[in-house]
Amino acid sequence: MIGVFDSGVGGLSVHRTLVERLPQADFIYLADQANTPYGGRPSDEIVALTRAGCIRLFEEGASLIVLACNTAAAIALRPLQSDWLPAYRQKLGRPINVIGLIVPTIEAATGLSWKDTTSSRLETMGPKKTIGIFATPATVRSQVYEVEIHKRRPDITVFQEPCPELAHLIETGADHEHLRGVIESHVKALCAHIGDRPWEAILGCTHYDIVSDLFAHALPSATKLIHQPSATADALIRYLAHHAEYDSGHTGKRRFITTGVALQSKLAEEFWNGPLAFETLLAA
Ligand code: DGL
Repeated sequence: MIGVFDSGVGGLSVHRTLVERLPQADFIYLADQANTPYGGRPSDEIVALTRAGCIRLFEEGASLIVLACNTAAAIALRPLQSDWLPAYRQKLGRPINVIGLIVPTIEAATGLSWKDTTSSRLETMGPKKTIGIFATPATVRSQVYEVEIHKRRPDITVFQEPCPELAHLIETGADHEHLRGVIESHVKALCAHIGDRPWEAILGCTHYDIVSDLFAHALPSATKLIHQPSATADALIRYLAHHAEYDSGHTGKRRFITTGVALQSKLAEEFWNGPLAFETLLAA
């Protein structure tokens, strides 16, 4: 079974594409709504909450977890993979792993595979390009997009626009008009910072993809929007093809669990195109 983790409903943007692309696989989605949003929290809290979420998903039977949360992936993935996962894997005595979504997003944005950090190709790549990243304050603070894109494509300049209030507004189902205003002001701020439109833009918080139509509308039409859910689904499918040890299941099971109150989010259900029945998970 594949586990999908986010602080809230944002990861459904990735989850929807994953279930479309792997209809036969079994999925369990965990929203840590008791602790959402993550984006304004200090790093140690984000690591601890992400670890707790992963433990719950492994306890529920997941073998492979996709962190469908940029904040968790940017801050917690590396520390968890190096400091916690090896011993926990031994304790469980079965193959388990946690993967993120930033690597595939950067691959899609740069047009290069992750391992390709050679700068020799750059001569042929033409004029300076810009990528605009909309993300939570914690993801912006991590500088992961900036550093990793620059390593691969020094011809690209990354501009980040932190959107401190946006994930919470989407999580709590703010109305479209309100969201439109907030998103337009962030797009305007990013373009003013660049002094032009961005060549590409990344919605570097999975909540934002729930309202990607509002971003697409606010951004200049020539700006290419990188689709993080598709990049993540492509990477997961490739990963599973090379790692038969992770059992993704084959009964098409879908479970949705939350650490908080199972709320009815019209915005999330519209995006999901149907009712979402979250079970409340009591503390372990
Ligand atoms: N959906 C998350 C992300 O991709 C987290 C938002 C939050 O909890 O602040 O960053």
